[in-house]
Amino acid sequence: MDPAKLLEEISKDFGLSLESCNDIRRLEEIRTDYLGRKGKLNLVLKDIPSFAPEERKEVGSRANLLKDDFSIRLDALKFELEKKLKSETTGSLDVTLPGVEPGIGTRHPLTLTINRICDIFVSLGFEIAEGPEIESEFYNFEALNIPLDHPSRDAFDTFYVKGKYVLRSHTSNVQIRLMEKNEPPVQAIMPGRVYRPDAVDASHSFMFHQVEGLLVSETVRFSDLKGILMNFCKSMFGPDIKMRMRPHFFPFTEPSVEVDISCANCAGVGCRVCSGNGWLEILGAGMVNPKVFEAVKYDTSKYRGFAFGMGVERIAMLLYGIEDIRLFYENDVRFLRQFA
Ligand code: PHE
Repeated sequence: MDPAKLLEEISKDFGLSLESCNDIRRLEEIRTDYLGRKGKLNLVLKDIPSFAPEERKEVGSRANLLKDDFSIRLDALKFELEKKLKSETTGSLDVTLPGVEPGIGTRHPLTLTINRICDIFVSLGFEIAEGPEIESEFYNFEALNIPLDHPSRDAFDTFYVKGKYVLRSHTSNVQIRLMEKNEPPVQAIMPGRVYRPDAVDASHSFMFHQVEGLLVSETVRFSDLKGILMNFCKSMFGPDIKMRMRPHFFPFTEPSVEVDISCANCAGVGCRVCSGNGWLEILGAGMVNPKVFEAVKYDTSKYRGFAFGMGVERIAMLLYGIEDIRLFYENDVRFLRQFA
């Protein structure tokens, strides 16, 4: 064949091969076919001595130009194919890479404390109940014998939401809801979040947690309350802990007490944690006021009950030696991961 025609044919074939090439392995085959030592262009160059002398120069330079041209086009296509491959594989899973270890969280110290409190009371036969945080004035105040004009309303002041709705200032609302729904005997604890318009400092927060307790039956007495709380304190803080009750006033219990435990930090000697007096208040309690039974239509001549309410943050702070209540709410993992 006429060598000029032959070169033209080779160039055309090369173009077609490149057009249909869409992977790098095929591309390298094409490169060898056309530019390799025994490739199509070299075969033509090898034949040059057999061409007519006037053709030799022409064919030689044309073949060499084609070599450069093929090489440039092969490299350009290779670059494109590699780019495509890369974009296809990003986002896919490379199982040979070391894995990213998922950060496993820990339970919040308040959750741990609530769980411990609940476990102790569940082992004594209490059920767990919950109620709403947005509550009507009736459940937060009136049904608990805290009338609108009573000075004790101040102690349980809270945030008003809309109309007669408030953010509950204690978990005692759940007592009412529970008794409305169930006839005695009732024996439950009620954990949850409560709100008070307090300025935030190391020991106060506008939001905190309580666990409420209620037991209603025909026979329960104040001594049962004392025994159960004694049992709770020892389970929570160890067998050496001492407990004392001081007379107090709550509108929903009568008689009412505040319960202190001996300071675990100084074993009752007096230190900074207990403000030097050796005791720490942890909860309020008392025998259910008959006025509360009236509000839920229980027969006051038949039933009696005791109730208590404790602050979870207070107990967690004593348990873990935490000195600032704000640490509970800041979500600083350096603090949180200390509690397994
Ligand atoms: N509700 C009271 C408070 O928030 C605690 C309490 C509950 C006291 C039940 C007596 C009985 O301070």
